[in-house]
Amino acid sequence: MISIKSPREIELMRIAGEIVGDTHKYLIPYLKPGISTQEIDNLARDYIISRGATPSCYHYEGYPANICISINEEVVHGIASKRKLKDGDIVTLDICACYKGYHGDSAWSYPVGNISEEKKYLLEHTEQALYQGLRVVKEGAHVGDIGEAVETYALEHQLGVVKELVGHGVGSQLHEDPEVPNYGKKGTGPVLKAGMVIAVEPMLNLGTADVYLLDDDWTVVTADGEPSAHFEHTILVTKDGYTILTKR
Ligand code: MF3
Ligand code: CO
Repeated sequence: MISIKSPREIELMRIAGEIVGDTHKYLIPYLKPGISTQEIDNLARDYIISRGATPSCYHYEGYPANICISINEEVVHGIASKRKLKDGDIVTLDICACYKGYHGDSAWSYPVGNISEEKKYLLEHTEQALYQGLRVVKEGAHVGDIGEAVETYALEHQLGVVKELVGHGVGSQLHEDPEVPNYGKKGTGPVLKAGMVIAVEPMLNLGTADVYLLDDDWTVVTADGEPSAHFEHTILVTKDGYTILTKR
C-alpha cells in the first residue's frame, strides 16, 4: 500500500527533510583528510538531536551507527569507525532523521581534498542521474519511468547501476512502499499520485554493477573495488512535478 500523506504529515516531513539537508550542510566543512568516520557520525548525531529530531538509522534493524558513511568502493551502509578520511577519497553520507514520527532521507557523495578525474566524473554523473530520475516524476507517472530514466543515463555514461538496493517510499516508516529501482521500463510499476513521498537514490559504480556484502553484515562494496557514488533526495509528488523535501 502506498500512502498519500495528509497536509499535517507533509508539514512534518518538510521539517524532517530540512533537518536532513541542514545536517549535510553542517557536515561538509568537516569532510577533510584526517577526520575519522566516528567523529563525523558523532557530529551528525549531535546536530540532528539539537534540531529536535533523532537519527533514524540508529538501531534500525540493528544498525550500530547514527548515519551511514561509505568510502570509495563502499556503496552503502558503511559503519563509523576509527578509519580516517584521506586526500583523494570520496565519501557518501546517507543521513536519515525522524521528526515527530516522520522521516527524511538523503544521501550525497563528496570529494575529500583533491580527487581523480574519474572520481569527479562519477560524482557529477551520479548526481545528474538523480535529476534525470526526478525529471519524470509527477502525478500519473509510473515508478518504472524513474528507473528507466536513471538507467538509460547511467548506461550512456558507462556507469554500473547497482540493482540490489532501491529507492523507497518514506513516511512514518523510513522504508515504505513502493520500491523505486534505478532500472526498469517506462509505463510499468505503480502509478504515482500527488501526496506520495518517495526517496529516489541512484547508486552508480565506476566499474561493473556487481556488489557484495562485507562480513560486518552491513557494508555493501563493489565487487571490482572501483568507487561508487550515491545521490538521494526525499521528494513529495505533486500534480505537475515534485517538491524536494531534503533541500540543501
Ligand atoms: N538511506 C538508507 C537506506 O535507505 C538508510 C539505511 S538506515 C540503516 O537504505 F540503518 F539501514 F543503515
Ligand atoms: Co533511502
